Amino acid sequence: MKAIQIVDLTGPDSALRLVDLPEPEPTHMLGGAEFDSGVVIDVHCAGVAFPELLQTRGEYQIKPPVPFVPGSEVAGVVRSAPPADGRASDLKAGDRVAAFCALGGFAEVAVAPPFLAFALPAELDFAQGAGLILNYHTAYFSLVTRGRLREGETVLVHGAAGGVGTAALQVAKGLGARTIAVVSSDAKQQVALEAGADHVVRSDGLWKDEAKELSGGGVEVVFDPVGGSLFTDSLRSLREGGRLIVVGFAGGSIPEVKVNRLLLANTEVIGAGWGGYAMGRPEVNLEIGAAINRLIEQGNVAPIVGERFPLERAADALRAIDERRATGKIVLDVRS
Ligand SMILES: NC(=O)c1ccc[n+]([C@@H]2O[C@H](COP(=O)([O-])OP(=O)(O)OC[C@H]3O[C@@H](n4cnc5c(N)ncnc54)[C@H](OP(=O)(O)O)[C@@H]3O)[C@@H](O)[C@H]2O)c1
Repeated sequence: MKAIQIVDLTGPDSALRLVDLPEPEPTHMLGGAEFDSGVVIDVHCAGVAFPELLQTRGEYQIKPPVPFVPGSEVAGVVRSAPPADGRASDLKAGDRVAAFCALGGFAEVAVAPPFLAFALPAELDFAQGAGLILNYHTAYFSLVTRGRLREGETVLVHGAAGGVGTAALQVAKGLGARTIAVVSSDAKQQVALEAGADHVVRSDGLWKDEAKELSGGGVEVVFDPVGGSLFTDSLRSLREGGRLIVVGFAGGSIPEVKVNRLLLANTEVIGAGWGGYAMGRPEVNLEIGAAINRLIEQGNVAPIVGERFPLERAADALRAIDERRATGKIVLDVRS
């Protein structure tokens, strides 16, 4: 099969090679002792995200020995699946599927653990399916499981035109919250509006004051995949009882918090690491998958696909993320 490998850790310009490899065995490392075979997928589209970019530099927490095939999520058609046993989705050969495979997605055939492979709803195409699991499960887990979001609350979303940001806008809205998107350009403003943002403010403007005004004194929740210099003003934009959910550090630096701010304002900072939580808990993935399916059926969730590249141009896809040009989900067309 055709696949892209990371062959060294020199960054997206030079670390990738298009190679011919044997197809993978039907086992998956995340299946552990409980799941001895995974879901084998003929990949149509592979999602591209921050982890793959970081992996070309050896900067991501998962560091397989080189060479390896990156690619954390895919959409395609099931080639084979283990029998259903109540701990995973009921899939069979020929079903359209969206799956999180952690590694191995930049290839014509990939394997996912059964509890992270879901029937792809008819409303979504393969490109949208390749942007479904990582971003939307993260958004739901962060906002609901960790952030305790309630209907009627206002959520400020940083990096709101990005993959996980657009997902957070759609999930929050679908759950009855009001959303304020923070973005850095006109093009990203358009994407945030397309994702259903109620208001959009600019990261280079007075976004904290605007957010406080728009929310009548402060937001209940900040969803933050960016971190860095935005952090202190994010805390200041919360109302009493507000929660800042730490999702990532796309801005490049990890902020520190003076905890007296939390005491004085009666606010919280909450960590939300989806992967670490969800991997050992098949039942959590099924619950979140069912909740997201309901949001898809209601018309609230439809991943926004940005630039698309053929498999052999994976380096260009990673550069779009590296250069902060990505809007929505970047996708590789594996069978174009
Ligand atoms: N906690 C979890 O479980 C989890 C799961 C998935 C992803 N993440 C993390 O979430 C973060 C965002 O991922 P993503 O896939 O949404 O990325 P993305 O699509 O590239 O979006 C990231 C957004 O961050 C903003 N940003 C600010 N400073 C930036 C910089 N220096 N370089 C690049 N972007 C910058 C950009 O928006 P503006 O230009 O509008 O500011 C950009 O749209 C990553 O750190 C990722 O590792 C965490």
